[in-house]
Amino acid sequence: MNNTDVIGLDHLAVYFPDQYLDLTDLAAARNIDAKKYLVGIGIHNAAVAMPSEDVVVLAANAGLKVLQEAGVSPEDVGMLVIGTESAVDKSKPTAAHVHDLLGISTSCRTYDIVHACAGATYGVLAALDWLHNPKNKYALVIASDIARYGKESLGEPTQGAGAVAMLLSRNPRLLSLEELSTYSRQVWDFWKPLDKIYPIVDGLYSTQCYIDAANSCFGALEKINGNSAFIYHTPYPKLVQQVHARIAVMIDEKIDWKQHFVAKVERSCRFSARIGNIYTGSLWLSLASQLEFSLSETTDPTKLKEDLDGCYLFSYGSGCGAALLRGEFRDTWAEMADQLKVEQALSARRRISIEEYEKSIIDYENMSLNDSCPDPTSGQFKLAAIESEKRVYTRIGV
Ligand code: CAA
Repeated sequence: MNNTDVIGLDHLAVYFPDQYLDLTDLAAARNIDAKKYLVGIGIHNAAVAMPSEDVVVLAANAGLKVLQEAGVSPEDVGMLVIGTESAVDKSKPTAAHVHDLLGISTSCRTYDIVHACAGATYGVLAALDWLHNPKNKYALVIASDIARYGKESLGEPTQGAGAVAMLLSRNPRLLSLEELSTYSRQVWDFWKPLDKIYPIVDGLYSTQCYIDAANSCFGALEKINGNSAFIYHTPYPKLVQQVHARIAVMIDEKIDWKQHFVAKVERSCRFSARIGNIYTGSLWLSLASQLEFSLSETTDPTKLKEDLDGCYLFSYGSGCGAALLRGEFRDTWAEMADQLKVEQALSARRRISIEEYEKSIIDYENMSLNDSCPDPTSGQFKLAAIESEKRVYTRIGV
């Protein structure tokens, strides 16, 4: 195959708030055994967004990072898609703000896609189609979400916030991508009525819908290559163990799924355990986790292809829709993955108290943005004001 026929991820970048809640503090405040959160659900920290940090700010920061690291000019981006289920407007796309903040040219197709946690994946699939036209150069797809379930809800320990920006091109430097199978079914597992600020969730049923979708997507394959990384949408790491226990036996019914999980899945769950669920970005955060740890735990990146023939990427959006993609690591994958540095950013975060976390809930519920709200200390953008119902975004320090 000619290199220009290969389409996929040239690069990806992750951005998340620089403050987090430790779930041992949440467990103590809710009078729950911390092991339920840390082991039963598998999450240790939840990223907490400030009032000045909405999905536009998270997306713009991730988008800026991916373009700068890839050395690609905003002028060369001809398609900008934001996947989000935490949009700040029912009509004006999040992408319109991000397009402006990143200085992308007017000759760009700019829109949002909403399909619960699968929105950005559908954006990636649209970008793969768009790149088949040789006139088109770069597509930027950004997943950006703030997952909030409300104080004392069952979903509270799975909250999180963050964005993942994906730059797609022909002859990509990181990962080629293709769609293998797809799945859709109308279900009421998780939804957000227009007049509600928190989702309605049928928790246990949602996990069953997720597992059914994965069974169907993997079941559609003639053969599953067990020597691959298996990267799943990760609302919380325990669910990924539960789904992989089922998918692994499709590779070989005598497989020791726990051993296979440790070898081919576990690395991809580590960032989610420290950020929480970021809905549309969750699958792609798991890919970043797999790449960063594959790189740091190998002595010879050129040998990755011996350890892993490639990866499967399973995306799930409640409601519900799912897609299974296949990725192959490109020869230059390590140079691109070396720039991720998510672990470094995670270590630099500030741990907030339960009181600060609960104040952030009140700020969100009251939609308060006032002079006492501090600026984010990382990133380049903030929501500075809401004037005459218009959101005003500025560069930090400008
Ligand atoms: N020590 C160790 N483990 C413990 C424990 C303890 N002291 N106490 C409980 N546990 C374990 C339980 O045994 C259980 O493990 P298993 O699943 O292996 O049985 C686990 O902790 C969770 O406990 P519960 O079953 O009591 O669960 P819960 O009622 O607290 O709800 C949840 C858990 C359904 C995930 C809830 O947090 C929720 O509704 N989350 C939001 C919905 C969600 O994330 N759904 C995922 C699929 S939908 C999707 O993927 C889209 C999306 O992103 C939202």
